[in-house]
Amino acid sequence: MIEVKNLTKSFEDKTVLFNINTVFETGKTNLIIGQSGSGKTVLMKNLIGLFEPTQGEILYDGRDFISMNKKEKAMMRREMGMVFQGAALFDSLTVLENVMFPLDMFSNENYRDRVKKAQDCLARVNLLEAQDKYPSEISGGMQKRAAIARAIVQNPKYLFCDEPNSGLDPKTSLVIDELLSGITHEFGITTIINTHDMNSVMGIGENICFIYKGHKEWQGNKDQVINSNNSKLNDLVFASDLFRKVKEIELEQDKK
Ligand SMILES: Nc1ncnc2c1ncn2[C@@H]1O[C@H](COP(=O)(O)OP(=O)(O)O)[C@@H](O)[C@H]1O
Ligand SMILES: [Mg+2]
Repeated sequence: MIEVKNLTKSFEDKTVLFNINTVFETGKTNLIIGQSGSGKTVLMKNLIGLFEPTQGEILYDGRDFISMNKKEKAMMRREMGMVFQGAALFDSLTVLENVMFPLDMFSNENYRDRVKKAQDCLARVNLLEAQDKYPSEISGGMQKRAAIARAIVQNPKYLFCDEPNSGLDPKTSLVIDELLSGITHEFGITTIINTHDMNSVMGIGENICFIYKGHKEWQGNKDQVINSNNSKLNDLVFASDLFRKVKEIELEQDKK
């Protein structure tokens, strides 16, 4: 569980996040949703320590991240896996070498064990057959799966994904969502996903934190989204035709 308390982030005189209070739950797919520019990436960067909050607390299972020194933060980061916007693989390394990279950097295991672990993760994301390929030789969806394999190779307690479906077609996005959700439940990871993909919201939104212009506007799960009276949330969710239709059908049924 990650608790965020009274988190404010300003850059010089511009405040981007205003007094955010939220909890990201263990073993669940926690989503941060909001329009482009609302503050999702800045919030995630505060969580993982790439930005220092201007004010507030971040507690990792009770451990106060902000007050940790550099070394303690580095240790905490080994409990975190990250999938950034774009797959961010190393072009000059094969898929297998990419997934092994965190182990090569941080683990004392011998080469065979590191290969075995990386291959287990590649098998989990159904990509073992591409282990010797280079990123440029595989599709965007496969690159994303390789990035997910790399993110979980050190058995993270916490998994951060910033717009994992950006640039992917809807079908591939669904595969990625199901993969992230499956990993989360299988390993009991506290997973946090930034998204503005409404298919993801309705598909895997177990705990959804809605950010509007830097303020936490709403929190709930995917079932509560459908019934919400929050007009800002409805504007975001039902901006897509499909979900407007779903809502209309629900309202029709309510009348009957
Ligand atoms: N390093 C930075 N310095 C100043 N402003 C920033 C910085 N990073 C992001 N911002 C601003 O913070 C706001 C939120 O950005 P961001 O978190 O990237 O939005 P989102 O991820 O929801 O699309 C934007 O107005 C953006 O311009
Ligand atoms: Mg962003």
